[in-house]
Amino acid sequence: MNKTKPPAKPGNIQIPSIDQPTDSGRRKALLAGLGAAGGAAAAGLMTPSRALADPANLPPNVADWSKVLGPGVDVAPYGMPSKFEKTVIRRYVDWLTATPESSINFTPLYALDGMVTPNGLCFERHHGGVAEVIPDDYRLMIHGMVDRPLVFTYQDLKRFPPQSRFYFLECAANGGMEWRGAQLNGVQFTHGMVHCVQYTGVPLRTLLEEAGVKPKAKWLLVEGGDSAGMNRSLPLDKALDDCMVVYSMNGERLRAEQGYPIRLVVPGFEGNMWVKWLRRIEVGDGAWMAREETSKYTDLMPDGRARRFTWEMDAKSVITSPCPELPCKQKGPQVIKGIAWSGRGKIARVDVTVDGGRNWHQARLEDPVLPKCLTRFYLDGWSWDGNPAYLQSRAIDETGYVQPEMAALQAVRGVNSIYHNNAIQTWRINPTGEVENVRLA
Ligand code: MTE
Ligand code: CO
Repeated sequence: MNKTKPPAKPGNIQIPSIDQPTDSGRRKALLAGLGAAGGAAAAGLMTPSRALADPANLPPNVADWSKVLGPGVDVAPYGMPSKFEKTVIRRYVDWLTATPESSINFTPLYALDGMVTPNGLCFERHHGGVAEVIPDDYRLMIHGMVDRPLVFTYQDLKRFPPQSRFYFLECAANGGMEWRGAQLNGVQFTHGMVHCVQYTGVPLRTLLEEAGVKPKAKWLLVEGGDSAGMNRSLPLDKALDDCMVVYSMNGERLRAEQGYPIRLVVPGFEGNMWVKWLRRIEVGDGAWMAREETSKYTDLMPDGRARRFTWEMDAKSVITSPCPELPCKQKGPQVIKGIAWSGRGKIARVDVTVDGGRNWHQARLEDPVLPKCLTRFYLDGWSWDGNPAYLQSRAIDETGYVQPEMAALQAVRGVNSIYHNNAIQTWRINPTGEVENVRLA
């Protein structure tokens, strides 16, 4: 498939229903025939998942799994999710990019709880495919305006005093397809270029101090060892502030697709700067004006000029349930769930509306609320009456910045942007309970 395919209209993306019964579930449902549960479901009294249950496994009967010994230890030396969760996967939109090597897939945000993204579900963005770096052959070079050019091995980096921190990473292109109107019918696709992980590694400052940065230095060039050799200019102030050179994510070594064995962490800044398979840091006194900060990752404004070096990710939020992948199955009480984040610090407040912005309700923020991290929020007290509802969330960060509506964003930035869309998202709940990506005028 190539780029010449037309852009998707809402609903063009086929989203597998996450509540599809597994094969064994379907078989049992068929075997159950029109028993009591089937009849009740037909009368519209039960949710589908209850209707699919095999009565033989329900109380007061002894369920199948209680009658046999299960597999012993070590059947799966590296554990995998339950087979009943097999639809919870990263997903890819094949017409978005010309090849899968320079492409993106998306985090299944609708299926996640809390603020941590499991390693296997972190979205991937590669410009030249996943590099397979042999750890023994790995080297990180620091050179340029330094007193002592240095080359570190993987083992060298692990000998420094470590530090562990949670941070979100968001691709600047997250939501890029939504600038001109509602396009993709799924939170996985509209917002899934974000993940939040606990990183362990060395403060970049420690390595720069080891090399001795010359007084006139102001910038770094950070470069990856993949076939794309992806590179970006990074201001020295940021490097010395909170950047990290990391080897672990969520307690285990980095996944290959996230930059094994070493990646750069640039908290709060656009994902593009978080160089994976980090091989080289050059210290200099000016920006390099690399491809990724001139031709790409700049924002075309209505007057034809482009914003550049728009590193910080503005405050943003999205409702992850209900959403197109998680329709409302029944009327009555619904917990509205979502995530919020800001590249400038902590989330201070999230408001939620169910009537397209007429009335806002303050959401409950779940601990921990950490700077430059995903923050989980809930609105507990809403009851859906079966009428159309327009759900939105609005994040406010600790600097007082308020997540804008798309109209406000377009008034300043026009419609030619791809990157840095942090507009408020609207989900319409239809009377059938289905949820649709819409744009309110
Ligand atoms: N680093 C290298 N070496 N090569 C790349 O293609 N992609 C960048 C960044 N670092 C990239 C890279 C982009 S655009 C993003 S959004 C993030 O990595 C994605 O990180 P992830 O794949 O861990 O989600
Ligand atoms: Co990116």
